[in-house]
Amino acid sequence: MKPVKIADGVYDVGVIDWNIRDFHGYTTELGTSYNSFLIIDEKIVLIDTVKKDFSDELIANIARIVDPKTIDFIISNHAEMDHSGSLTRVMHRIGEDKPILCSKMGLKNLQRHFSQKLNFKTVESGETLSIGKRTLTFLETRMLHWPDSMFTYLNEDKILFSSDAFGQHYAGCEQFDDQVDESLIMHAAKKYYANILLLFAPLILKLVEKVKEMGLEFNMICPDHGICWRKNPEKIIETYVQWSRQKPEKKAVIIYDTMWHSTRQMAEHIAQGISEAGIYVKPMKLRESNRSDIMTEVLDANAVLVGSPTLNNGLFPTVADFLTYMKGLRPKNKIGAAFGSYGWSGEATGLIFKALEDMQFQMLDSGLKIQYVPDIEGLEACRELGRKTGKKINAL
Ligand code: FEO
Repeated sequence: MKPVKIADGVYDVGVIDWNIRDFHGYTTELGTSYNSFLIIDEKIVLIDTVKKDFSDELIANIARIVDPKTIDFIISNHAEMDHSGSLTRVMHRIGEDKPILCSKMGLKNLQRHFSQKLNFKTVESGETLSIGKRTLTFLETRMLHWPDSMFTYLNEDKILFSSDAFGQHYAGCEQFDDQVDESLIMHAAKKYYANILLLFAPLILKLVEKVKEMGLEFNMICPDHGICWRKNPEKIIETYVQWSRQKPEKKAVIIYDTMWHSTRQMAEHIAQGISEAGIYVKPMKLRESNRSDIMTEVLDANAVLVGSPTLNNGLFPTVADFLTYMKGLRPKNKIGAAFGSYGWSGEATGLIFKALEDMQFQMLDSGLKIQYVPDIEGLEACRELGRKTGKKINAL
């Protein structure tokens, strides 16, 4: 449990949110943590705070290491409230006039969150600051994932405090990657990337290049959520590069909802056809799978097939919701297809087709729609769509 010493004079004094299961709309089945880092040198520095509800716990954790009043300044890497929510409460405890260092965009955003007069001081990207025996370097990471996002690097210890980047929604007493099951934590990191960072993939690739040019080395990467990466910090960076390149695997995801099982039957027979082509396929019904879990599967899939019954001349609501969500995350390099059942008007398939085409998916055909209940020929048409999808994937 926190506080945890992560290096000489460096502690995680953040908190664990064991019970959160809905993080502004996406599922956090493993809970999460809000990490906050205390560095003890000639100056005492706190990097980021925690969600407001946990203010007292953060202050208590700090007090187990130092008297909170001895903190010289706070660094705000990111204004989102899971990291800034405790700021005023902490300032009240450590001294209202203590400086809060942030980027220029951080200043703008923090001022829109807090009406109190706080002693904000801006830092430039690349600026360094001595805190005694050690030096901090600030690196602005604008739009990763907010305009104000910033990294702080502890030069001598080679520790990167990476704000949201490289995070995972994971609650546990473990602090480091070598203390947890690798597949579990990598899946949590993948879900986090797919739902928070995917739309910024081009910026991530540029940032990694910039970091390489700067010659920064990492003994440890400490995000604001989940475990810190120390076993092989390069691995999570390389994995981010791989996800950001969006070169998917031989895999298809079928996303659908259904009213009287006709669209479900279509989805499952399409899946059978894809599988016959030797491709891994995952059908996911929207009312049984949260959109955040579906996006995690979409991230590394070659093909995304979306099905909906027509309801009131339009899309089934969960399908409309998902298409809106996926569009915002801007997945690239996907094969797409639309399908669905209908009673008398049948607009849903065309609406899906248009939505996927607008996302620049490479569409397989104009869409497969079947009236009321699929018969033997209809189900064969579904399997054929699946085989066609598989063939296309195999040809890539
Ligand atoms: Fe964990 Fe962008 O906040």
